[in-house]
Amino acid sequence: MSRRRRIYEGKAKVLFEGPEPGTLVQYFKDDATAFNNQKKGIITGKGVLNNRISEYLMIKLGEIGIPTHFVRRLNMREQLVREVEIIPLEVVVRNVAAGSMAKRLGLAEGTQLPRSIIEYYYKSDELGDPMVSEEHITAFGWAMPQDLDEMLALSLRVNDFLTGLLLGVGLRLVDFKLEFGRLYENDEMRIVLADEISPDNCRLWDVKTGEKLDKDRFRRDLGNVEEAYQEVARRLGILPEGGPRDMKGPTTMQ
Ligand code: TMP
Repeated sequence: MSRRRRIYEGKAKVLFEGPEPGTLVQYFKDDATAFNNQKKGIITGKGVLNNRISEYLMIKLGEIGIPTHFVRRLNMREQLVREVEIIPLEVVVRNVAAGSMAKRLGLAEGTQLPRSIIEYYYKSDELGDPMVSEEHITAFGWAMPQDLDEMLALSLRVNDFLTGLLLGVGLRLVDFKLEFGRLYENDEMRIVLADEISPDNCRLWDVKTGEKLDKDRFRRDLGNVEEAYQEVARRLGILPEGGPRDMKGPTTMQ
């Protein structure tokens, strides 16, 4: 692990001081938690794979004009990111009923939603990340109405783009969680995508078989957890060197 000064340690990642002011080093751990830390485990190799997967997806999103905190990958487990002020919200985008929404509303998992649905959760481990509405967010000042509009617009663009990209490699993007930060530059503030995008915070199902290829394998004790993360990386054509199969480009599904 890095010898730099540690700024923050989360459940799956550690942030260190970066080499230049305004940068941080984001280190990906193999630790996995679920249900607000009640379930803990290690998914061997997860940090290496999520570092790669998130790098790949953040670069692709950057290419279509989505601003992100990502600068470059440094090594197997670390990436350089811009230092941002994290907005204390988890923005969940859902295309298919699953997880907490299926449970809360009594929907069968796998039901296609009439349109993409956005939910906001307030980031608080003590409170277990409660779901909140736009009213709570603006009344309590967690984000200004215009910030929220920007996060919503960016989230929908991310959803459209990732849905297509993942479908191209045979994965159904069921739902995912995003986090945003405020980037201050030359007296200006921009909202940028932060955190990570990986099977830790997406639900990804095989298009043909419906097999779950994400953290639900860990949450629900389905087995083959490492293999699922590897399969996502393999399909995206980004298994790290020395991985079981060293693919060069994405595997297009017919
Ligand atoms: P949920 O169905 O449990 O509410 O999860 C919705 C999506 O958000 C799913 O893709 C997993 C992701 N997620 C996180 O990334 N972090 C969390 O703390 C939770 C609860 C969900």
